[in-house]
Amino acid sequence: MGVVGVVGVVGVVGVGGVVWVYGGSGARLQFNDAATRRLEMEPPVRERKPFVGGNWKMNTNRTTSADLTRGCVDALAAIGSVETAVFPPFPYLLAVRSILRDRGSSIQLGAQDCYFRPDGAFTGEISLEMLKDCGVQLVLAGHSERRHVIGETDEIVNSKLRAILDAGLTGVLCIGETLEQREAGHTDPVNQRQLRSGLADISADAMSRVVVAYEPVWAIGTGKNATPEDAQDVHAKLRRVIAQLYNAEVAERTRIIYGGSVKASNAAELFRGADIDGGLIGGASLKAPEFAGIVKAAAGGSR
Ligand code: PGA
Repeated sequence: MGVVGVVGVVGVVGVGGVVWVYGGSGARLQFNDAATRRLEMEPPVRERKPFVGGNWKMNTNRTTSADLTRGCVDALAAIGSVETAVFPPFPYLLAVRSILRDRGSSIQLGAQDCYFRPDGAFTGEISLEMLKDCGVQLVLAGHSERRHVIGETDEIVNSKLRAILDAGLTGVLCIGETLEQREAGHTDPVNQRQLRSGLADISADAMSRVVVAYEPVWAIGTGKNATPEDAQDVHAKLRRVIAQLYNAEVAERTRIIYGGSVKASNAAELFRGADIDGGLIGGASLKAPEFAGIVKAAAGGSR
């Protein structure tokens, strides 16, 4: 996992024998002419806080969603330095929220999907206002099952992400290539296209509420993983695209998490990449101890 530091010198100013070298992130290095070189960073070096989300998909029922929530609250209580969230099915959001609130848990409440219109004749859809009313703080946009099973296009995913951000919530933009696309050598263009179109018309300010989840479709629910090197390579390239779209600072502070058959036993290795800031977890998030093992691995990787 990476560290946000000086991202490029943008100015050098000499005042009273002191030279300040300003970085694009607002950091500055101070040298004085008595040759007592002093390094001062303002603001202090920050790190991207790891993020681990549990996407329960269309699993659990009224009883097991409550049990799983309580299990996660207990298992995660002692693990600091990682932002965590669960994404239960819609009918259980309120009950999960009550448990999280009653237990004073820092686990955030997420929704797996939303519709981008505010209200009206859209049978079966759920608006952002409804989700906010239920205490939802984050929403997934463009999960591969929405793209490839339900048929959501890049444009729909972008509309959803913009609506999520306009509603003041955090959006987790999911992208990833299929096996066919990977085998055809299209991994980078597919991911970069999904990232660029997903982020269309999203401001640099709003990017502080975007998490990008790279989830190779062939790794989701299959027990297959990208190698840590392959995953790191994709993440580093995605970060470069964010730098092109915005600037180096936005790129450095945006969390890019990995998803696809992450388990407690492989999480530490996958999270070792400098550009891998946590994970989006499906199957392994349905067992609290397993999910906690992954969160611990993410905590171990922060520095
Ligand atoms: P998986 O799912 O961990 O079961 O592979 C990940 C996801 O779909 O987010």
